[in-house]
Amino acid sequence: MLQELYQPNQDFAKDARIKNMDEYHALVKKATDDYEGFWKAFADEKIDWFKPYDKVLDESNAPFVKWFDGGKLNVAHQCIDRHLETQKNKAAIIFEGDRGDKQVITYLDLYEEVNKFSNLLKEDFGVQKGDRVVIYMPMIPEAAYAMLACARIGAIHSIVFGGFSSEALRDRIEDAEAKVVITADGAYRKTKPYMLKPVVDEALTGETPVEKVLVVERNHEEVTWVEGRDYSYNELIKNKSAQCDAEPMESEDPLFLLYTSGSTGKPKGVQHNTAGYILWAQMTMEWVFDVKQNDTYWCTADIGWITGHTYIVYGPLAMGATTIMFEGVITFPDAGRPWKMVEEHKINQFYTAPTAIRVLHKTGEDEPAKYDLSSLKVLGTVGEPIDPPAWKWYYEEVGQSKCAIVDTYWQTETGGHIVSPLPGATPIKPACATLPLPGIMAEILDPETGEKVGEGESGYMCVTRPWPSQIRGVWGDDERFKKSYFGDVTKEGRPVYFTGDGAIYGENGYITITGRTDDVINVSGHRMGTAEVEAAIKKHDNVAAVAVVGKPHELKGEGIFAYIVLKSVKDDVANELETMKEINAIIKTEIGNIALCDDMVFVPDLPKTRSGKIMRRILRALAKGEKITQDTSTLEDPTIVGQIEALVNAS
Ligand code: WTA
Repeated sequence: MLQELYQPNQDFAKDARIKNMDEYHALVKKATDDYEGFWKAFADEKIDWFKPYDKVLDESNAPFVKWFDGGKLNVAHQCIDRHLETQKNKAAIIFEGDRGDKQVITYLDLYEEVNKFSNLLKEDFGVQKGDRVVIYMPMIPEAAYAMLACARIGAIHSIVFGGFSSEALRDRIEDAEAKVVITADGAYRKTKPYMLKPVVDEALTGETPVEKVLVVERNHEEVTWVEGRDYSYNELIKNKSAQCDAEPMESEDPLFLLYTSGSTGKPKGVQHNTAGYILWAQMTMEWVFDVKQNDTYWCTADIGWITGHTYIVYGPLAMGATTIMFEGVITFPDAGRPWKMVEEHKINQFYTAPTAIRVLHKTGEDEPAKYDLSSLKVLGTVGEPIDPPAWKWYYEEVGQSKCAIVDTYWQTETGGHIVSPLPGATPIKPACATLPLPGIMAEILDPETGEKVGEGESGYMCVTRPWPSQIRGVWGDDERFKKSYFGDVTKEGRPVYFTGDGAIYGENGYITITGRTDDVINVSGHRMGTAEVEAAIKKHDNVAAVAVVGKPHELKGEGIFAYIVLKSVKDDVANELETMKEINAIIKTEIGNIALCDDMVFVPDLPKTRSGKIMRRILRALAKGEKITQDTSTLEDPTIVGQIEALVNAS
């Protein structure tokens, strides 16, 4: 198997922070021998503490843990102020807008913009430490300013991806009890304006905890202004002072919430706290992307997802790098757009999702060859398993067989990468996340016994010790936090963290992630709970029951497949098509376009056991077009499987 390994580029490795496997193993050993000492050394070296901490790790109330308790710091200071002495004129953010408009924001500019924004939030909106601020923004520099301004004054931001609907936004605002929403009138997509403010207006109808809305005027289209509630950022920011002291925050003060889907119920507010999160964001930036002082780094994610939080804003800025922020669509005006940007900005590290790679490969296979991509050193992928053909194209055509591909495995809950190659050290293998990062005790465990699986075996991807950037809680729901991530399995008395992913333990300890083991699906790298989509579909008057599963999709990774039982069936195609349209319209208002169904099949019933449990395994197999081999005799009505199969085949 190992003949598939690609060795690191030696020219690159000699200057890398971690230069070879010996250095990797030495770090792993250090963490194994003295776990707290390992983290202490990095916390002391990397973080500009306002007040030193008393204790590295407090596990006395596990799984509620405390890292660096007693210490004080501020993330905006860590990301901006501390760099001013040495690099105030370095580009912190290079913005490229949808229409090709560009803006270079230096560290000094960023300092001033964030301070003004902080003063605005405090003075005009009365935002105080601990208040929740929802950010519903396009990919524009003001979104980063808003995040950092919250961090500076100790407010807790909760970013909602701009593709979510008003109902999804309303749920998140209510759960977080947000006092303020920061949004924009809209932005541009494929050079045309699109709108966000009307979605906010809709989300705030009726009772709402929101008192004030700040609107960045980006596309200057007409929007409704609610007197006493809505204010223009462009106006208020004009007379703000560029001086604002960074609030000294406790290590374990919350930094942000980010709602993400689980296998049941509504999305949960994943809480990340201050010191541990920023430490690991910075360390992984340095190790995994190996960004150097003069490099330009581009992560194509949206700030509405964790990748945008950690690897567009917090990680790059904490280490003092230059990060690109991109408003546009990666395949517009053509599939050469990212490569044109690499050539123009001389980008050194490029980080994107397998979905994007598949689309760029399919629609622009020859595009990379048209541009000078010689500046590239490291390529990254994240969010879903990458398929070997896409990997090969990425490696050979984009990376010209000289760039490492870091297949970074992590989640909203892990804060930063947990399993990933190191570009100067780890021999890589297509579609393999390779090895745990030093300090992360990631293991593949047997779900039954809790023991480590053997070579070639598969099990559940787990982490057996707490690490600094791990989720600290589900907002407002301690029980759900414990139940969702920590089962009964313990290792050396510690509760084990379950990722929800399956993995295979390969030769040399290489880890291949196989995907979710629960009812979470991954559509174009967007994480979606089947329960959320089902709840939306059930809102249709004529729907009696529904089960949603993921189905492999050539471009999206997974598509959404819904089995729907109608209350009253009129056997005509026009009627069915009309119902499908209505259902998709409901999904659009309840969740957003990202959750629209790829397939819907109307079935007479769902396969249920006698106790009423839906057999999703069967539905998943049928959606894939597989023959059902498992025993169906425990079903309430075993004939239903054949009936559904016939309907799936006919659809
Ligand atoms: C999946 C995104 C395979 C996984 C950072 C995980 C991956 C979910 C990889 C988290 C990878 C992420 N290979 N699968 N390199 N990275 N995943 O919370 O199923 O949006 O649980 O965080 O994406 O998605 P989330």
